[in-house]
Amino acid sequence: MALDDLLEQNRKWAAERVAADPEYFTRHVGGQDPRLLWIGCSDSRVPAEHILNCGPGELFIHRNVANVVAYNDVNIATVIQYSVEKLLVDDIVVCGHYGCGGVAAACADVGLDGYIGDWLMITSWAKTWVDERLKKEGKTLPHAEYLREVVEENVRLQVKHVSHLTMVRKSWEKRQGLPRIHGWVYDISTGLIKQVMEVIDGRPQGEP
Ligand code: CO
Repeated sequence: MALDDLLEQNRKWAAERVAADPEYFTRHVGGQDPRLLWIGCSDSRVPAEHILNCGPGELFIHRNVANVVAYNDVNIATVIQYSVEKLLVDDIVVCGHYGCGGVAAACADVGLDGYIGDWLMITSWAKTWVDERLKKEGKTLPHAEYLREVVEENVRLQVKHVSHLTMVRKSWEKRQGLPRIHGWVYDISTGLIKQVMEVIDGRPQGEP
């Protein structure tokens, strides 16, 4: 079988974990109490647990193309509702990344067909905001730098989308401003995360 090597790696990984910490797996059997909800891009270069050096039980995760929070997406709405109402997470992170293919596609002149094109219409709003800002400032940016701006703006936009959800607003009332919402951007060339926005006590904080 073509994936035999991965199954072998899995057995080796599990054995190593148990050798180092006999309760590594068993301590999570009774349930989960993750520290945060991570909304990230599906990109294979942005593995949430690796980046934050976390293990099982620490992160509740949703990933999709270009880390989009869409109101008509039952999938992400269910993940957020479960996080906010059942897991009672204190923090929600929306993490984009430089070099995001989804953002680049949303910025390309050629429209994409099918589901991808429809999905990225949401991210194209970030492009519109950046275009308007640059026009107002009379600035043009090299393309790579421009795409980085849109990646950051896309994160701000999706943080706003999370903060507009009724279930999140209800939680702020019930739980004294929790969850906090954080907009992060991961740099695939350095492994480091930049904070671009926060919503604390239900209020946007801007640049940290
Ligand atoms: Co991406």
